Amino acid sequence: MKHPITYILALIALFAFFPGTVAADFEGRKKCSSCHKSQAKAWGETAHANAMESLKAGERKEAKVKAGLDPDKDYTQDKDCVGCHVDGWGEKGGYTIEKPKKMLAAVGCESCHGPGKKYRGDHRKGGQAFEKSGKTTQRSVLSKKGQDFHFEESCASCHLNYEGSGWKGAKAPYTPFTPEVDEKYRFDFDKMVKNDKAMHAHYKLDGAFVGEPKFKYHDEFQANAQEGEKGGDDDEDDGDDD
Ligand code: HEC
Ligand code: HEC
Ligand code: HEC
Ligand code: HEC
Repeated sequence: MKHPITYILALIALFAFFPGTVAADFEGRKKCSSCHKSQAKAWGETAHANAMESLKAGERKEAKVKAGLDPDKDYTQDKDCVGCHVDGWGEKGGYTIEKPKKMLAAVGCESCHGPGKKYRGDHRKGGQAFEKSGKTTQRSVLSKKGQDFHFEESCASCHLNYEGSGWKGAKAPYTPFTPEVDEKYRFDFDKMVKNDKAMHAHYKLDGAFVGEPKFKYHDEFQANAQEGEKGGDDDEDDGDDD
């Protein structure tokens, strides 16, 4: 017989396990891309943008064989694979095999920046306030609504999700591409986050958002950033994203 206290303790453990988690929704990259045109274009050229292609039969044959996978098999609907090649797998609003949405396929904006439904409105407001009167908005407003400014955990959830990686969150299904298969798959955050083949290029911000949490390489990236093209609107009413 379980004592009620067991359940209470289990509940407390549950909340302790998800410290400060914000239940937020994934929406897909369309909204982000309409305002951040340059980043969206640059992202389109990265390995992350092609992550779904790699699961198709006949793609990356050599790499698949080396990792013990079948090069002629279609893995695009395999639940042991898809989760790390799309946005928001198993999360609210995220990609599903049953109703696959194009704007959530591949490793898009929200996989790194966090699910955007709750914070993107604050980007609009913050941008408008800055344009009108130079008023800045604290980044903490955004982080409370699920925007990620650290990145390390989100990268790890895909890149370090295998047994023995040293990442404490690892659980099956694991990535087949580990340093044991090839040393080039070893993930080093500080190096990888600056790899401009896999990461989108950086463009100058006006500085509408200030304060902590600020990404540790934010100032470095901004100092070397290009002039970009901004979008005006996220087209509030169109709803459909595929
Ligand atoms: C309505 C337009 C709009 C939408 C939609 C939007 N943003 Fe933004 N975003 C902005 C503006 C404006 C800024 C401030 C830019 C500046 O300072 O020059 C900003 C800033 C940012 C920053 C920089 C934050 C910092 O540390 O200074 C990131 C990262 C970002 N947006 C990512 C996203 C992502 C990811 C999405 C989709 C979930 C998104 N944005 C949706 C307008 C938008
Ligand atoms: C949702 C899972 C996921 C997240 C989150 C993610 N990645 Fe990836 N990443 C992938 C996949 C899948 C590929 C391989 C794409 C392909 O080639 O099909 C990849 C490829 C890469 C590559 C290219 C490796 C190479 O061989 O050139 C780098 C570098 C990289 N990611 C860095 C990062 C960094 C840094 C972060 C966090 C800021 C991150 N990734 C977040 C899944 C993810
Ligand atoms: C736990 C997350 C995860 C799972 C599950 C996963 N992958 Fe990936 N996959 C990644 C990451 C991360 C990379 C990028 C590795 C790198 O280049 O460093 C990747 C890269 C790849 C690549 C490109 C490798 C190359 O060198 O070109 C292929 C192909 C691929 N995955 C197929 C699959 C298949 C097929 C499955 C299922 C059997 C699968 N993945 C399951 C995370 C995952
Ligand atoms: C693999 C992870 C990853 C993906 C995918 C990704 N970003 Fe980023 N993004 C970053 C990192 C890391 C930074 C640097 C953050 C900083 O300097 O504060 C960044 C910075 C930004 C910025 C700030 C200005 C700049 O250019 O540095 C904007 C805006 C932005 N991203 C929008 C997007 C949009 C839109 C998408 C999708 C089309 C996207 N990002 C996809 C990791 C990612």
